[in-house]
Amino acid sequence: MTSATHAVTAVAHPNIALAKYWGKLDGDGNVPAVPSLSVTLEGMATSTTVAFDDSLAHDELVLNGALQPADGRAALRAAALLDRVRSSASVSAHARIVSNNDFPTASGLASSASGFAALALAAVRAAGLDWPATRVADLARRSSASAARSIFSGFVELEGGRDASGVARQVAPADALDFRVLVCVTTEAAKATSSTEGMKQTQASSPYYAAWVENAQRIHRAMREALLAGDFVRVGELAERSALAMHACALAAGVVYVRGATLDALAAVQSMRKAGMAVFATIDAGPHLKCLVRTSELDATRDALARIDGVLRVLETRPGGGARVVESMPKERSA
Ligand code: PMV
Repeated sequence: MTSATHAVTAVAHPNIALAKYWGKLDGDGNVPAVPSLSVTLEGMATSTTVAFDDSLAHDELVLNGALQPADGRAALRAAALLDRVRSSASVSAHARIVSNNDFPTASGLASSASGFAALALAAVRAAGLDWPATRVADLARRSSASAARSIFSGFVELEGGRDASGVARQVAPADALDFRVLVCVTTEAAKATSSTEGMKQTQASSPYYAAWVENAQRIHRAMREALLAGDFVRVGELAERSALAMHACALAAGVVYVRGATLDALAAVQSMRKAGMAVFATIDAGPHLKCLVRTSELDATRDALARIDGVLRVLETRPGGGARVVESMPKERSA
């Protein structure tokens, strides 16, 4: 058995799904029940350092400056990813993980996507594995399906549905469509229902689940076409439809992520659109509304959203890069 090799730091960005997935296939591969298409967003980032170390008795996770309890959810999920890496690389040592987000954690801002993308890449490289991006994405997906998409830059598809194996791939580069994503932050707190729990509850009891699955496949196909045609308005319309369909399906199972401020921001986006602006909303498994807007209408849109009661701040993000290693420090090998 080999032991520690490198302390590797990787950075990854969140992504938002324009065509969302919600629901998973049976089995242990964590494969979504429907295909999804996302955009990786620069302007928010997770930075994660992994160092395997023989002297550790168990894996350690320091998240946003706080050492996580070893038996807590975050540490256990990170350790499960490390176990997969250890068994592929024949590494026996435990690891210390230090991870920082520059945006609210676990509140529907895709911190699990950027978090597990950065962790997967840093862990794989720290263990000395030279895996291609597709394989790193496969590892990341097993921890958080949306994390597979954050491995890649620009517009990214994640396979889902019957016979799919959950492969992620880039569909178009970041400059394929010129727009920005404004994130209306409505709370700094973590959400009460994780997306995994929300999906389980939805699959078990939403009367609309079968309709959602069927509709999501159609939206995904149309989204791909609109994106490749460079049609921002169509991409925006479909993104808003996808988000509202997902939330309608989840709401019918009692799974509620939106708050008053989320709906006020949605109403503002819809009324700007009635006034002739090309702005569109999307909402993930959390209370923050994200607004898709052309650069030419950015300032007016940001001002209108920032004025809404309950919108604490508005973050500006843009299509951007995939996960990358930013630092790799050789450590002494203690075989
Ligand atoms: O894969 P998770 O657990 O991060 O869940 C993602 C759920 C949504 O963000 C709502 C949809 C999506 O396709 O990203």
